[in-house]
Amino acid sequence: MLTGEIKLRIEKYYPRGVELRRHIHQYPELSGREVETAGLVADTLREAGIEVRTGIGGNGVLGIVRGGKPGKTVLLRADMDALELNEAADVPYKSKKPGIMHACGHDGHTAALLMAGMVLNDLKDRLPGTVKLMFQPAEETTGGAERMIEAGILEDPSVDAAFGCHLWGDAEEGTVLVKAGPVMASPDEFRITIKGSGGHGGMPHLAVDPVSLAAQVILQFQTIVSRRKNPLEPAVLSVCMIRGGYTHNVIPETVDMMGTIRTFNEGMRDFIPCEMEKVLRGITSAAGASYTFNVTKRFLPLVNDAAATALVRKAAEEVLGPDNVHEAVASMGGEDFAYIAKNVPASFFFVGIAREGKAVPHHSPHFRWDEGALRVAAACLCQTAVDFLLES
Ligand code: NI
Repeated sequence: MLTGEIKLRIEKYYPRGVELRRHIHQYPELSGREVETAGLVADTLREAGIEVRTGIGGNGVLGIVRGGKPGKTVLLRADMDALELNEAADVPYKSKKPGIMHACGHDGHTAALLMAGMVLNDLKDRLPGTVKLMFQPAEETTGGAERMIEAGILEDPSVDAAFGCHLWGDAEEGTVLVKAGPVMASPDEFRITIKGSGGHGGMPHLAVDPVSLAAQVILQFQTIVSRRKNPLEPAVLSVCMIRGGYTHNVIPETVDMMGTIRTFNEGMRDFIPCEMEKVLRGITSAAGASYTFNVTKRFLPLVNDAAATALVRKAAEEVLGPDNVHEAVASMGGEDFAYIAKNVPASFFFVGIAREGKAVPHHSPHFRWDEGALRVAAACLCQTAVDFLLES
């Protein structure tokens, strides 16, 4: 519904969307420090005549578009933070801050949601209910969505459904991917220290070598995923950091390791660390060594509501045509939209940025995408919100 009106206004606001995206890209801010970006978002919403609340759960910003008639409340969400890396992409709007870059596309999410807010504000007299525009901090690190929820973003008026999207390298430009059920994993972190006892590299029998024990532990960990868990349930266990020793002839006292555990449900989320601990206990005790093992649980797995996802699919088909809407494959990436989806019926979808099957990977210093994706993201967010309010 109102698809023609939405498309016309997306075109009207597209140049402004590009300008906003480029500004945010040039002045990226790390998680939890999105002060200027939050300021720009709040100013842009105010200029458009949209009610604004700031400082929600840190640097979070909320825009509120109140429709002309009573009705339900729908929340649309974007994230504002950048990553700690040096931009290597050769683009005219390159980051002006050394060591900080929008390498995940959150600049695009923010600009697209601002465009969507302007369009919905133009159409508000014809809409029943309320649209909340949520701009969150710290998606990449500590889960800003959770703190905005604690600060009451889902209340007053209480949210009936929520939607968000991510620019996505695994999808072709001009297309959108949707999927009901689990779509993003819980990205839990672990830290391990193996404690042996140091000694002479030429006399290993007088030491307890934590380096060879670490090697055994890493190999044995691979069998947790391949041999211990049910093969039909996905999981990833990656040791991503190993540090131990100083030189060629000294057996060190300790080896430290860090890594990530990715799973889609609470059962598997507990099972993998439990198996890891068995491996650590067995291998270290056989050698007379000891260990410490800590798991930090990060985001919940993101599970899309079936009805909310059907609504996104229909809205995306209205905007892009049915041939441009496809089924997503779940990703082992993490996403703190999971906390919103845990509290209200919600769906998170993916907006293509690949050309002929190719895109620079997210989080790469060369990451880049064409701004046509802003149109797709903004139009799909708008259409989903409009359909939800008009049809429920
Ligand atoms: Ni991201």
